[in-house]
Amino acid sequence: MAWVYLIFILNLFFQIPHLSNSLERKDENFLSYAKKEELVEWMVGVRRKIHENPELGYEEFETSKLIRTELDKMGISYKHPIAITGVVGYIGSGNPPFVAIRADMDALPMQESVEWEHKSKNPGKMHACGHDAHVAMLLGAAKILQDHRDGLQGTVVLVFQPAEEGGGGAKKMIDAGALESVDAIFGLHVSPSMPVGTVASRPGPLLAASGFFEAVISGKGGHAAIPQHSIDPILAASNVIVSLQHLVSREADPLDSQVVTVAKFQGGGAFNVIPDSVTIAGTFRAFSKDSFMQLKQRIEEVIIGQAAVQRCNATVHFFADTKPFFPVTVNSKDLHEHFRNVAGDNLGVSNVKDMQPLMGSEDFSFYSEVIPGYFFFLGTQVESDGKVESVHSPYFTLNENALPYGAAMHASLAARYLLEHQPQVQLSQGQGKLHDEL
Ligand SMILES: *[C@@H]1O[C@H](CO)[C@@H](O)[C@H](O)[C@H]1NC(C)=O
Ligand SMILES: [Zn+2]
Ligand SMILES: [Zn+2]
Repeated sequence: MAWVYLIFILNLFFQIPHLSNSLERKDENFLSYAKKEELVEWMVGVRRKIHENPELGYEEFETSKLIRTELDKMGISYKHPIAITGVVGYIGSGNPPFVAIRADMDALPMQESVEWEHKSKNPGKMHACGHDAHVAMLLGAAKILQDHRDGLQGTVVLVFQPAEEGGGGAKKMIDAGALESVDAIFGLHVSPSMPVGTVASRPGPLLAASGFFEAVISGKGGHAAIPQHSIDPILAASNVIVSLQHLVSREADPLDSQVVTVAKFQGGGAFNVIPDSVTIAGTFRAFSKDSFMQLKQRIEEVIIGQAAVQRCNATVHFFADTKPFFPVTVNSKDLHEHFRNVAGDNLGVSNVKDMQPLMGSEDFSFYSEVIPGYFFFLGTQVESDGKVESVHSPYFTLNENALPYGAAMHASLAARYLLEHQPQVQLSQGQGKLHDEL
């Protein structure tokens, strides 16, 4: 017994302080490590290669292959395929704690309008949301962590997921077991309106829950000059849209932010023909599950009820199978403290900003619904031009100087999380007394 006790004390004195000191030093160096020319050039190369070959959700075959090739080169083991193109890599001891860092891989169905050397080579597809940079930065973090793996007290899980843009790839990753035994997860998104070297986020709700709807409003077509022989779906759809706008203005708590937008209106093809039907579609957003489900129910009721006023029938679809509802993205309060500490040490406290919630949505919310999660924005502003092109713009660009910041943030958040979440079993006996001596 005395033996065991002695070893226990020696452990406390030598092993734990020693490890924490060495890791804290390395952690501070992750940004300078990430800024090494060789590492930056490699990340920039990876980003440009993915940018030239954008692939849509669940079709990220070449992107996934590129990731696996780079992981192979680094000697990092991984699981594949997960959710069709997804890759999950593992760095460290293979033992608990497990902390995940995540990147999304998919591009958008839109034509790039930026004329540059590495413009999209796939017509009608573009990395306009910066997911090419997300992949490059997560690979950069993998390299940093693998180079420092001897100091890792646990396991970092690299999550490369498909189909963030409406496809709910995160949900499929979870269903396939990507989060098994993972204790916490971090994710980031590029922000073209924040300077390079800055990050921003908040504790609690950060991004809204989001869903899509489509409605077909059916009447009876006929000659535009003889309306009494027709049932006009154009007028019915117009009234439906106006009534939908009353949901937020008259039924929602003004302090509980919500959005209903009808973004699609299709019907008719001639100036003198009343069409048989009109299709409308849009999105709705809210910051709580209750508000969200209430909105969904009322959207359906209002479309059917208001169409009936003009003698039309309506059917409403919410695409729960192909476009799953995104939950609210809620940041853990404990992880917010962790984020502020890590970001402050890496970037300087003045470069760590608080922000207001946004009505945008992220499928990262599927992860943070299951385990503690933290999502933040990384500054990628392009310095030269005054005006900011937002994500999803065909003119979207990003500042590649931001890549080492994202890689260092990922790596530091993960490494320090492991350090600060060591299993407490060893310390449980006589902890108070020994703690005083230390
Ligand atoms: C609406 O549905 C009812 C019941 O199926 C049908 O009798 C009616 O003709 C439909 N009206 C229109 C305008 O399609
Ligand atoms: Zn996007
Ligand atoms: Zn995005």
